[in-house]
Amino acid sequence: MTDRLYIFDTTLRDGEQSPGASMNTPEKLRLAYQLEKLGVDIIEAGFPAASVGDFEAVSRIAEKLKTTQVAALARTSKTDIDKAWEAIKHAAKPRIHTFIATSDIHMEYKLNMSREQVIQKAIEGVRYARSYTENVEFSAEDASRSDRDFLCKVFEAAIEAGATTVNVPDTVGYAIPEEFGELIRYIMTHTPNIGKAVVSVHCHNDLGLATANTVTAIRAGARQAEVTINGIGERAGNTSLEEVVMSIHTRPNFMPVFTNINTENIHTTSRLVSMITGIIVQPNKAIVGANAFAHEAGIHQDGMLKNPMTYEIMKPETIGLSQSKLILGKHSGRHALRSHLKDMGYDLSDEELNLVFTRFKEIADKKKHVMDEDLEVIVTEGILRTAETFKLEYLHVVSGTTVYPMASVRLNINGRTVQGAGYGNGPIDSAFNTIAKLTDAKSELLRFTVSALTGGMDAQGEVTVRLRENGLIALGRGSDPDIITASAKAYINGLNRLEYLKTHPVIASDGL
Ligand code: KIV
Ligand code: ZN
Repeated sequence: MTDRLYIFDTTLRDGEQSPGASMNTPEKLRLAYQLEKLGVDIIEAGFPAASVGDFEAVSRIAEKLKTTQVAALARTSKTDIDKAWEAIKHAAKPRIHTFIATSDIHMEYKLNMSREQVIQKAIEGVRYARSYTENVEFSAEDASRSDRDFLCKVFEAAIEAGATTVNVPDTVGYAIPEEFGELIRYIMTHTPNIGKAVVSVHCHNDLGLATANTVTAIRAGARQAEVTINGIGERAGNTSLEEVVMSIHTRPNFMPVFTNINTENIHTTSRLVSMITGIIVQPNKAIVGANAFAHEAGIHQDGMLKNPMTYEIMKPETIGLSQSKLILGKHSGRHALRSHLKDMGYDLSDEELNLVFTRFKEIADKKKHVMDEDLEVIVTEGILRTAETFKLEYLHVVSGTTVYPMASVRLNINGRTVQGAGYGNGPIDSAFNTIAKLTDAKSELLRFTVSALTGGMDAQGEVTVRLRENGLIALGRGSDPDIITASAKAYINGLNRLEYLKTHPVIASDGL
């Protein structure tokens, strides 16, 4: 018999803790809609006590989603739980996720609490959360480094207090698959009331074992997997949704579980996360990397032509790779654009459609076919990036073998127009120097990458930058058929994200 495996997506909470990956509320809402379309069971929308921005985003997502459970994270304190509930109280299916650390090292050095005090806090937190909702998850932070018998006692007490899901995090990515599977079996056999709760796992990827640990835990009886799209997250990231789901899909004999995931939406969701966060997916990333289905070696290609199963264990269509490439051209009208955007999950107002249509025509003038990826970029850059401090109005760059590179730039800064010109050792450097001068930017450019958004000689260039200022890190993304314009847009987007981080300070992160 196969059981349901609940997919708990924490891209918007743990995923957002990737350095530089901050998202604004419209971006988070767009992603939440996409995750609902993907079929995840629970969306962890944020940690409302951590910042005002988090609170606002969780509330918006909770109000809008109709079918997916919306979880808010909280420590076991009443103030955190009050904030979590306040943010999700209008959700169709709210869940409070409360946690406290249970390893000796965390209890002694971070919490400064005894085992008894921790059990007491766990009970109080779960009971208090239960006074708001019947759907309460309890996590024992750093479970994989906790004393097993103590862990079972904490879970027993949390379930007794009303927790309906108990989560076993490998917070620091320390576990080894056999050991982690064994831990899950131990918990299942040594926690007397475990049958009253769903056992969940939450793994980090510090040793590159997050998916292996999660899959082993599922084989040992875990029935909720906490994951992120593209595996983004704190440090080396979290377990990646697509890897767990496709492992189950590809090797059903090894995992007697099924999920509600519509696998054909995996590719689009992965792209969207990368586009919104600015975190590029490594080309060799399993399932969603650009090379995941590319067969380079002649002997492989020959085999593939004779029978794809010779070298292909999954079909690219299963993750939505060869679908949805509808192509719009410069003669496509507003109506076709609206209906195609609707199929892609964007229900735009007339005003938003006007903005997108204008940009679509500009792109269609420069490149023959406008693909889904191009449209995603137009919507992400044009609609989701609201309330930006800096906007590019005009860019002119002179460069070549016989001139000193120079850029003229006009920006809109909070409604005020400023312009100037500057030099650099290349066209991009001159554009960046001028933008930095106009915005009074103090940030350091840590990384700069260019890639092509789609195939073809006329593909849009996609640029990402990583900026640092006073310990804050922000990623910026920009696309345009012209890579110098794409670079300027990416730089400005990075500066806007830094501004956002400065005005939305994290109040409490608890070092998760
Ligand atoms: O990694 C961790 O322990 C967490 C918990 C809050 C679940 O993110
Ligand atoms: Zn985590």
